[in-house]
Amino acid sequence: MIAWVNGHFLPLEKAVVHIEDRGFQFADGVYEVIACFNGSFLDMDAHLQRLERSCQAIDITPPVSRNALLSLIEQTYQRNPYANALVYIQITRGVAPRSHLVPQALTPTMVITSRDLAMPSDEKISTGVNGITLNDIRWKRCDIKSIALLASVIGKQEAKQHGADETFWQDDQQHILEGCTTNCFAVINGALVTHPLDHQVLGGITRSMALRIAKSLDIAVEERSWKLDEAGLTECLMSCTTNAIMPVCHMNGEAIGTGHPGPVATLLRQEMLKAFAALQSNKPTHA
Ligand code: PDD
Repeated sequence: MIAWVNGHFLPLEKAVVHIEDRGFQFADGVYEVIACFNGSFLDMDAHLQRLERSCQAIDITPPVSRNALLSLIEQTYQRNPYANALVYIQITRGVAPRSHLVPQALTPTMVITSRDLAMPSDEKISTGVNGITLNDIRWKRCDIKSIALLASVIGKQEAKQHGADETFWQDDQQHILEGCTTNCFAVINGALVTHPLDHQVLGGITRSMALRIAKSLDIAVEERSWKLDEAGLTECLMSCTTNAIMPVCHMNGEAIGTGHPGPVATLLRQEMLKAFAALQSNKPTHA
């Protein structure tokens, strides 16, 4: 594997950053994960805009222009052997002796990698995701795609210990906010319902895509708070770049609806995969 690190393409084992990088010391940085299908990136503009917003929110100036970044992302993708890939971009504030106060004129660190995009197994798609809920222990700026992911690591581990796949965070009134690495939806009286965009959730690019697809299929969309025990709730779904849309069929050991993937999750997933397939046949350029 070849990675971009601070101005150079290097073999992964040589692609290193300084121990005084503020990303390492303070998680002082942001990231993006973008899917690429056979050379075509999914919603690239939206990802780059979100990266710029995340940088701006913590007052980091990206080290290169948007066009230069686009070119580096494409080159990183091309230099690696994966036709369907997940490109990871991380920008941190840079290297400085450890001190909370930010020194003037730091050069941000930027790392880009491109790895194999593994889609969920057929078995997982047919049985659905198994979720648990936990009270949200994260910070109050979940709208920033920060590399400070300790709560998400704890949440994922907790899910695993319960034989589950994902932890969904809930607020102190038991509203479902989002998962550790996913946005979460319910189908309530036929409408697709998801928490509104605020400081408690990340504005997922796949979330936007799911809402767009639902609207195009005349499925009502409601961006509002919701709870698992709401009357009329028949399905739960989750979305993220790495999994597209997935049905969530159990929560805390109890079946959601029938306990099997429901019609809305199945339809939305199918439509999203069609969009991926269309991208894939776009431009077969991978070496
Ligand atoms: N996670 N919410 C959180 C907290 C996330 O970390 C993610 C993505 C999402 C979904 O966002 P998108 O649809 O843009 O992928 C929602 C990435 C995949 C990760 O951390 O690896």
